[in-house]
Amino acid sequence: MGKLIFISSGKGGVGKSVFAANLGATLGERGLRVCLVDMNIGLRNLDIYVGLENAVVFDACDVLNGIVPISKALVRDKRLQQTWLLATTQRKEKFTAGETEVRELYKKLRARFDFVIVDGPAGVNNELRIASAGVDLAVIITTPEYVSLRDADMMDQTLRSRGVARRVYIVNKVNKDHMGLGILPSVEAIAGIMKIPLLGVVQYDDAIHLAANRGVPIVLQKGNYIERNFGKIADRLMSY
Ligand SMILES: Nc1ncnc2c1ncn2[C@@H]1O[C@H](COP(=O)(O)OP(=O)(O)O)[C@@H](O)[C@H]1O
Ligand SMILES: [Mg+2]
Repeated sequence: MGKLIFISSGKGGVGKSVFAANLGATLGERGLRVCLVDMNIGLRNLDIYVGLENAVVFDACDVLNGIVPISKALVRDKRLQQTWLLATTQRKEKFTAGETEVRELYKKLRARFDFVIVDGPAGVNNELRIASAGVDLAVIITTPEYVSLRDADMMDQTLRSRGVARRVYIVNKVNKDHMGLGILPSVEAIAGIMKIPLLGVVQYDDAIHLAANRGVPIVLQKGNYIERNFGKIADRLMSY
């Protein structure tokens, strides 16, 4: 059985999808079988960040509604040997599946892949309830801002109450110049607030932003500090 990693946040726009794309590419580069699943129901993004928007024909809804088998909806990332994307629908009303069906889908994906990385929705809502069905390992993304942190803590409590036993967090978009001002919480201060282990810290870097918008997870550009950082994050993730 492969490992399912649920990427989550309280607040939107903190970098879940970009993180999912880079984590997937990091593991894919190691020759592991990876499936990225976009579960941001109705708000499809991940296909753009991995440069596959023109390749998506069927989505997770089509699979859940029994229109196509999983194999027909998986889109392969040709830059990596064994990395695939299962896109979500852009029409929320099309998504009629419930927790049972989603749990079953995750089980099937875990049987086929070493890693199933689910890009979840922001916020505590019905989409979260469905997308997190049967999940037991979550990575909560926060930025070093009090608003984002409060929502991350809320998400942590929600996921815990939903039975997600293992939860870790990432501080994304860390900017050293901003940290020095004393206005934003430091990584140490964040660790004092969050009740779960810190998985890693990702700098704010225009290169991450620009690469993602070109459909290239930055870790595919070899030899930079971001690639090394994601390598360490992936290593640490193995122990959870
Ligand atoms: N570490 C980072 N450095 C710079 N920009 C980032 C970083 N992570 C994400 N972004 C940018 O932040 C915005 C939101 O990211 P996204 O992954 O779409 O967030 P979410 O999925 O949480 O809504 C995008 O413009 C993305 O390029
Ligand atoms: Mg997103």
